Amino acid sequence: MQNKDSKPISSGATPAEVMEDLRPLVNFQEEGISAEKLKQMLEERLLPHLMNYNHPGFLSMFNNFLEEGAKIGAELALEYNQGVTDWYVSPGGAMLEELCIKALCSLFKLEPGSDGTFMYSGTYANQEALYLAIHWKAEQEGFDFAQEGLKGFENPENLIVLTSADAHFSIKHAVRMLGLGDKNLLTLEVDVNRRIDILKMQKTVDKLLENYDIFCIIATTGTTSTGSIDNVLEISKICRRIGVWLHVDGAYGLAYSLVPEYRERFYGIEFADSVSWDPHKQFGTPIPNSILFVRRKEDFNRMALRSDYIYRESEDVPSPGLKSPPSTRPFSALPLVTSIRYQGITKIHERLRSPIRAIDTIYESLKTDTEIELCNKPETGILCFQVKNNQIPDIQINQYLKLVHEEVISGGEHSISFTKLGDKAVLRLVAIAPTTPETLMKTITYVKEKARVIANGGMLY
Ligand SMILES: Cc1ncc(COP(=O)(O)O)c(C=O)c1O
Repeated sequence: MQNKDSKPISSGATPAEVMEDLRPLVNFQEEGISAEKLKQMLEERLLPHLMNYNHPGFLSMFNNFLEEGAKIGAELALEYNQGVTDWYVSPGGAMLEELCIKALCSLFKLEPGSDGTFMYSGTYANQEALYLAIHWKAEQEGFDFAQEGLKGFENPENLIVLTSADAHFSIKHAVRMLGLGDKNLLTLEVDVNRRIDILKMQKTVDKLLENYDIFCIIATTGTTSTGSIDNVLEISKICRRIGVWLHVDGAYGLAYSLVPEYRERFYGIEFADSVSWDPHKQFGTPIPNSILFVRRKEDFNRMALRSDYIYRESEDVPSPGLKSPPSTRPFSALPLVTSIRYQGITKIHERLRSPIRAIDTIYESLKTDTEIELCNKPETGILCFQVKNNQIPDIQINQYLKLVHEEVISGGEHSISFTKLGDKAVLRLVAIAPTTPETLMKTITYVKEKARVIANGGMLY
């Protein structure tokens, strides 16, 4: 299924070494150079320093190698360099984007009136969702946010966005971009498996409502650190009870809701007002490839800016650019369409199942491993763990794991990541592409070996 190759994951070069290699590329000169010379230069100087996401040991991030079907569409989109601003810029491009979005709404079992828009990345999808949420809040208060801005609210300082303590930092960006501050973003406690603690959330929400104006609650279906899935159904009930916009950040995890046996974990997404998704993560479509869905297609009317040269009021033609800000827009729908058509839904399910099953399998077998402390019960292909060693006092564990991480990635054959769950440092194994438990175990074994060398060699002191 997967065309893994044997080039190392990375060159392992230092920033100074990479800079030295790349500098000639930006030595801009009056005269150009031949295509052969240019290609040779790129091959020698740049390619060794690009990451090989196709390597079986690449288990650290959400990046993926290009899926074969996606490549067919990506090459065409490049060849024709299509923008999909509207019908007049590319009739085929604009129409395919619209059709693709409708087909995806149905694939994800969203409500019949739902709609979506391609975005540059999950970060921008979250940003637009928060704009729609605050606009909607303003409408409840009887004014047009597009006209009045924040000053239309009686007490803008009381406006609150609520999300998980483990939410992605793009939410903070989105709040700031609205002209609000970090104090307008409050985080909710998570339970043992790092999902929003629903009981505590009920109490927190009721308490906050005494003094604040919550205008958006954000659930995450697949958190960045542990892949945990918030209970969207319960959160949607709270949102309905208090009349608050529900956004679901599914940038990482939403893809897994397509697999029949995992669908239950995502119940409630159909009640969300907006949902973000990043096909460029599991689907292997070219970066950037992200989507923001909304439950009511009219919600996008809040984004529409008409002009005299495009998006004229009188014309009823497909206009993707009326739903999100970029005017010149990449033809992101094409590689996604070709990828889905090429693989077929059955193969896509297999592609998505494979990493989850592999991670679940090693989770079970590592339960009895005395050198490993498991730090989450995986829901979507991410496993966080600590390596334990009697010689390492608890107080030094963060420093120890940081060193282990650096040692592991410097070898170029295995790549895991380092992160923190609260104050606790952990190593994180991410399986985003099809893989096997054996492949994942090789990396775990390598990590343990490196950890032993560090502990026994006294490298910490
Ligand atoms: C849960 C979640 N939300 C949002 C984002 C941001 O998405 P992007 O990197 O496409 O901007 C990420 C990125 O990893 C993520 O994991």
